[in-house]
Amino acid sequence: VSYGYVVIMFTKEEEGLVVKSWNLMKKDAAEWGLKFFLKIFEIAPSAQKIFPFLRDSNVPLEQNPKLKPHAKSVFVMTCEAALQLRKEGKVVIRESTLTKLGTVHSKYGVVDEHFEVTKYALLETIEEAVGEIWSPEMKKAWSVAYDHLVAAIKSHMNPQS
Ligand code: HEM
Repeated sequence: VSYGYVVIMFTKEEEGLVVKSWNLMKKDAAEWGLKFFLKIFEIAPSAQKIFPFLRDSNVPLEQNPKLKPHAKSVFVMTCEAALQLRKEGKVVIRESTLTKLGTVHSKYGVVDEHFEVTKYALLETIEEAVGEIWSPEMKKAWSVAYDHLVAAIKSHMNPQS
């Protein structure tokens, strides 16, 4: 996979937009994380089946203690991806971490559509969280960072059959 050799232009302004909006959301990260995932399941109810801790649980979705950490990981890792795109022109993640991420997401049957729905829900959640400072530029910056993060994860996933 030649992903690692492509250098992306990601400006200081774009980085700033991601960091600024994440800083606004950070203190309520758990709540936004929950909203984020509820949006995913609203659009794609079947995505719930992917998460073992939802599948095997009698606890109502919004009370499941394991959902918020995954949601926060997506936010934090996308934000970190933005910082690296700006600094390095690519998303740098430790090989061992990427291998783990690739393996876990393949194992549970995460496919392209899940990443797409997740992106949509992520952007909607940020829009709701930041209110009037939301802008097309902010949307673009988060989109680019997310897409590159996902490309890095996918490069370590098994091909979909
Ligand atoms: C596990 C991050 C997208 C489903 C994880 C873990 C991380 C993570 C850090 C824990 C891995 C470990 O065990 O060490 C991300 C990031 C994403 C993303 C950064 C997007 C940029 C998705 C999507 C789905 C998904 C789209 C499905 C809708 C899962 C499942 C697990 C998992 C089922 C295993 C849950 C468990 O630990 O029981 N993800 N994820 N992820 N992720 Fe994601």
